[in-house]
Amino acid sequence: MNNKDTYILAIESSCDDTSAAVLHNRRALSNIVATQHIHEAYGGVVPELASRAHQKNIVPLVHQALAKANIDKKQLSAIAFTRGPGLLGSLLVGTSFAKSLSLALEIPLIEVNHMEAHILSHFIETPGQTPPPFPFLAMTVSGGHTQIVRVRDYFDMEVLGETLDDAVGEAFDKSAKLLGMPYPGGPLIDQCARRGDPDKYPFPIPKVAGLDFSFSGLKTSILYFLQRETKMDPDFVDKERDHICASIQKTIVEILMRKIRKAATETGIKHIAIAGGVAANSGIRQALVRAEKEQGWNTYIPPFEYCTDNAGMIGIVGYLKYLDNRFTDLRTPALARYHIGN
Ligand code: KG4
Ligand code: ZN
Repeated sequence: MNNKDTYILAIESSCDDTSAAVLHNRRALSNIVATQHIHEAYGGVVPELASRAHQKNIVPLVHQALAKANIDKKQLSAIAFTRGPGLLGSLLVGTSFAKSLSLALEIPLIEVNHMEAHILSHFIETPGQTPPPFPFLAMTVSGGHTQIVRVRDYFDMEVLGETLDDAVGEAFDKSAKLLGMPYPGGPLIDQCARRGDPDKYPFPIPKVAGLDFSFSGLKTSILYFLQRETKMDPDFVDKERDHICASIQKTIVEILMRKIRKAATETGIKHIAIAGGVAANSGIRQALVRAEKEQGWNTYIPPFEYCTDNAGMIGIVGYLKYLDNRFTDLRTPALARYHIGN
């Protein structure tokens, strides 16, 4: 096979974003995402609506991704798709599409673990940025996941800790919901927090063993706190929104930073890479910049378009697997649960 010019078409459909990308080696020629706004009215992702929207989006998106990359489908070297983890109905749309196209074009098929892809998104060629050297610690923070992973090599990863209940993005979104904000509330909390005093309303940091996380207790303490305060003053949330948001954000960032500091101390690894939609949070970014100075870390954050769910990150794994001849076949099923390292 010609490994000099590899063109990968990548498909991502694990949750509520449909995405298609074309990579030329490590470079993304296109990375198109259709976000499904239909879920906003429900305050969270509705699985059945998500799979229907994927079905509607996928063919036009692939056309757009090929057109933007200026690539004909006959030039494609392989097709990479998200096998899991995610919503099964959503995964099936991308999986079936990728299989059919690989059959029609007679090109290899590559299955990708969505969580590994978030981590390996750091290796998409990005001007002015160097990828983290091995070994590094990756913290994946999104609406669906919260994990700390030791990355020894592209395909040698070990999960050191993960959430026992809600993901960190859910903690943001559920807190926002309690404050009457629309879904997804994470970015709105971030905006309000910039104007607020983070020390005004301290919330407890949960005690969780090892490198695991828990966010459900925080949601409960916010709920009780708001019930107590609004009983005394019904306008409490409106008056204090910025301070409440700043206090919530400070607590969530502190929960994350304590664990990643512990992981860095225990492993002796000082290269810290983060990925996932919550990597956009200004509080986390500031905390990482501070940690570079205080802890002597090197930190890595991919461009935002590669942080949220996108097919570009599936494409880079596709490329790396292509080089390593790691192909799959038409019998490979989608997996709602798919652990790193399996
Ligand atoms: O990675 P992502 O796009 O989708 C999942 O795989 O889940 O992450 C979406 C999550 C949502 O929970 C959203 O509220 C959160 O990322 N998010 C933020 C910010 N931007 C996105 N949370 C806090 N601050 C932000 N600036
Ligand atoms: Zn994701």
